[in-house]
This record gives sequence, C-alpha cells and structure tokens, in this order.
Amino acid sequence: MTRRRIFSGARPTGRQHIGNYLGALQNWVKLQDKYECIYCIVDIHALTSLEDTKQLQGNIHEMILDWLAVGLDPEKSILFVQSHVPQVMELHTLLSMITPLGWLLRVPTFKEKVKLQPNNVNYGLVGYPVLQTSDIALYKAEVVPVGEDQLPHLELAREITRRFNSLFGYTFPEPQGKLTSYPMVVGLDGKDKMSKQAGNDIELALTPEETRKKIMTAFTDPARRYRTDAGHPEVCNVYKLMTYFDRLKTEGIAGQCRSAEIGCVDCKLALAEAINSELKPVREKRAELAADPKSIAAILNDGAKKARSIARKTLKEVKKNMGLI
Ligand code: TRP
Ligand code: SF4
Repeated sequence: MTRRRIFSGARPTGRQHIGNYLGALQNWVKLQDKYECIYCIVDIHALTSLEDTKQLQGNIHEMILDWLAVGLDPEKSILFVQSHVPQVMELHTLLSMITPLGWLLRVPTFKEKVKLQPNNVNYGLVGYPVLQTSDIALYKAEVVPVGEDQLPHLELAREITRRFNSLFGYTFPEPQGKLTSYPMVVGLDGKDKMSKQAGNDIELALTPEETRKKIMTAFTDPARRYRTDAGHPEVCNVYKLMTYFDRLKTEGIAGQCRSAEIGCVDCKLALAEAINSELKPVREKRAELAADPKSIAAILNDGAKKARSIARKTLKEVKKNMGLI
C-alpha cells in the first residue's frame, strides 16, 4: 500500500520555539509514521522580506538542528532546503501564467505584508502563494499540515491546481489543509501569537535556567495583582501554556488559582519544570548533532537529492501537458 504524501514548509526563522514545537513540529513528527512526509525549509520565500538574508545560512542550520532534535527523521522523511531543488522556481513561473492577479491581491497575508513593508512590495511578494503552491504541487502532495494563518494560501493552492487540471488535463491532486490540534500558541506577553519577532517566545534550545527566567517574565491574569486576589485561569496565558503539557494536571491548578491557594510563581515554576523535562532529550540530541556539522550537510544533501528526483518527473509531465515539450 502506498502512503499518502504530505508536504509542509516553514521559513528559516532560526532556532525554533515552543510555539513551533506545539503548533507544528510535534505533529510533523507523528505524521512520519502514517504518511510519506516531505518537510522543507523555504529559503526562497524568506527573500520576499529582505531583512533576513545575512542570517539565512545560520538560520537554516539552527532550524534543521531543532527539527532533527525533536524527532524529524531523515530515514523516514525527506528533509531539504527549498532552493536546493531549483525546479520549484520553474514550476512557479509556469503556474504564474494561469493565476489571475486578482486572486493574489485578495490574499490577507499579502495585504498585511503591504502594510508591514510598504517600501518593499515586490513582485515576489505577490507571487508568494504561487511559490507555495509550487512547493506542494511539485511533489503532488495531497495533505498539507499548517496553522490557521495558512488556510487562505491552501485555498489558493487548491484553486490553482484545479485550474491547471481543467486547462491541461489532470496533473495535480488538490491539496487538503490539515490543521494541527494546537494551531495557535499565544506568546508570553499574552497578546500575540508566539514568535521570535514579538520576543514573546521560549526557544527549545534554551538551558533550563534560561527557560525558568524567561517564563518568570510571562503575563498572567491582570486582575491578580496581589497573591491573595482570586485568579481567573481561563484568561491566563501561563495557564493556557500549561494545558499543552500532558504531564501537568491543570484541573487542580484552576481551582487553586480561583481560591488563591497558589500564586503565579507556583504556576510559572511548574510550567518551566514541565517544559524542561519534556525538552531534556531534545536538548541532548541537539547538542550531539551540533557537534557534527558534516552530518547535517549530508542529511540536507540527501534530502535534496530525493526531492529533485520527484521534482524532475513532475516538471516533465507539467511541460508536456502545457505543450512545451
Ligand atoms: N507560507 C508558509 C509559512 O509562512 C511556509 C510555506 C511555504 C509552506 N511553502 C509551503 C507551508 C508549503 C506549507 C506548504 O508558514
Ligand atoms: Fe495564571 Fe496560575 Fe496565576 Fe492563576 S495562579 S493567574 S493560573 S499563573
């Protein structure tokens, strides 16, 4: 029986944090046993917002270390860097010919980027979802695990592949988005999604002590100004983070917070403890991998090689169907 194929990608943001771990990586690791998985560090997509490029190589390295440390396994999955398979840029150009500009101008992430970087609204930025569609379509992936924010891109990928199929004959499966069980993890400030940019994140590679310190800065229930004030766990960010860790029994904590039996410091210490014990093996594995950069390069080379062999076949079929050969 052939397994269904999954593709997912992430921009090279460097060291991964708890949000990446709970929101995506943990799920990606599990999917490896049921699907044929392809996971990609999308460095070309990163070029649509130019500030990152000096750190690009370093970020890719830190990111793949975390991916491997949490259990993405090159024996089971294809792990590679997007630009190592240049065929994706060819497919991007071809798909751009059948993508109405109106579809792209309506995408919410595009409108956000226009506001965020008004002086760099480049052509590539408009085409971002076409490149993302090419990532998926190049490998004929059927399932795409993503966070909520990516659903509009997935919808577009379905529309573009559908249009291609109706114009040139069936070529691509219509990719299905698959939301993870923790699609959006709030940051330590309790306001925004956990992200490096917002500075509200907990990196996986922190030491236990750094983890504790960072968690101590977290936002909790603003109504709890004194230790004797009754708390409201349902609005508390630390409580929310605690519920993600199975090893913490949060039902008891909620009651103790409401009756002011425990204070926020107790919760923060418990959260730090849960994170540190869950990440202990991850951190050990990361240190081992980091000591052997050659093996990291070999893993990425091998991943790119496997990816290219699929990509070449698809591209040939695409060109044939479009009448180019
Ligand atoms: N746009 C995605 C993000 O910002 C990254 C991405 C690029 C992706 N290509 C993909 C995700 C293909 C899923 C499938 O997170
Ligand atoms: Fe949140 Fe715990 Fe403080 Fe209650 S005691 S507000 S659950 S951190």
